[in-house]
Amino acid sequence: MQARGEWSSKIGFILAASGSAIGLGNIWRFPYIAGKNGGAAFVLIYLIIVVLIGLPYMLGELAIGRAAQRNPVGAIEAIRPRSPWKGVGYLGVLTGLGILSFYGVIAGWTVGYIFKMLSGNPGDFATFISDPVKVILLLAFFILITAGIVYGGVSGGIERWSKILMPLLFVLMLGLIIYANTLPGSGEGLKFYLMPDISKIDGSVLLAALGQAFFSLSLGMGLMITYGSYVTKSDDLFSSAGYIVLFDSLIALMAGLIIFPALFANHQSPEVGAKLVFVVLPEMFAHMSGGAVVGSLFFLLLSVAALTSTISLLEVPVAFVVDEKKISRKKVVWIVAFVAFLLGIPSALSQGANPFLTHFGLIPQRLSDPDFLSQMSFVFGDFSLALGALLLSIFIGWVWGADKAAAEIKQGSKTFGAFFKAWVFMMRYFIPVVIFIILLNLFGIFD
Ligand code: PFF
Repeated sequence: MQARGEWSSKIGFILAASGSAIGLGNIWRFPYIAGKNGGAAFVLIYLIIVVLIGLPYMLGELAIGRAAQRNPVGAIEAIRPRSPWKGVGYLGVLTGLGILSFYGVIAGWTVGYIFKMLSGNPGDFATFISDPVKVILLLAFFILITAGIVYGGVSGGIERWSKILMPLLFVLMLGLIIYANTLPGSGEGLKFYLMPDISKIDGSVLLAALGQAFFSLSLGMGLMITYGSYVTKSDDLFSSAGYIVLFDSLIALMAGLIIFPALFANHQSPEVGAKLVFVVLPEMFAHMSGGAVVGSLFFLLLSVAALTSTISLLEVPVAFVVDEKKISRKKVVWIVAFVAFLLGIPSALSQGANPFLTHFGLIPQRLSDPDFLSQMSFVFGDFSLALGALLLSIFIGWVWGADKAAAEIKQGSKTFGAFFKAWVFMMRYFIPVVIFIILLNLFGIFD
């Protein structure tokens, strides 16, 4: 068998997995979901869910990967040979491609905005995203860079670049937090963001927080199985997962510390939804002194965050083909990237460029906006992740056996032993039930 990749160090693994987790989900999605769901109350619930559900579930995926040293399909096959459970692995591979296709489109817009902000006049968002040539070229550009990095392999590509990009992201964000919080009137934004009003917490806030936690932590499609498969047996999965969850939450919290103070300083509403980052912020930057540079930096940072996520989205299908079909990584990367690009084209054209794709509407309005991109985001970013997470948690808890998974996590960890029993209970009962509730919520059962 040809050699698989391996992380060269524990910190390399932590940064690469954090890079996957930290992305558009933290900086674009988290603030607008928080803004729509009551601000600080949402933030509080989100953090509780991340610790009680996100962290233990992540450990389960990592355990499968390290135990089997395979991609999601191969790993499940190794643990439970010739069973239909393998289908869950295929679902993960497909979900990776599906998310990459529409995520790459949004990531392409962020690259476009680096230059639009620099020009001093960001112009109209709707006009920009309905320009077919620009959005397709930007999508192609983003997928190309992603493929170039994944082409370099596990330690030489993904790990090396994560070590450069993640600290850069952190420093850029720190600078923007200071900038935003020195604007007059920013204090009100801080209050909205950090002082919870418990009366705002209801069922829908809870479920919005659950869905956001899974997407943000890259859970439910076997990404953590894949990244876990490159971890050596002597590494401590427990503390690594703790750092990944900590960094991911920190960056989401930091994004809010930029956006809400800046919004309130400019007397804008936090409840505008998905266009928050692309419409409200550029307008705001355009009216600030030095806004061209600050705005351009902000979108550079968003592109960097998106890039470390698209790398991981591409790596899941690539690892599958490399492991199972024994084709060399160098060939596979370009083929899979090209498929993702082709799959992304209808999403790119669905924001006004093509009327049919803009009003696609296969999935009812109740669940998703009608444009093709939103529909892909619902199918792969919400539904598939929740379904994958439900099936994987049952697989870990009941088919493989939570005690065997826990034994895998314990290997290399000095501290996990104390949580062994609690984790087994969470994995078997608590987590599948909670995920089942998220899934029902996706279909509006609780509306
Ligand atoms: N976690 C990424 C984000 O927050 O932007 C998105 C993502 C990446 C989801 C990789 C799932 C995944 F496997």
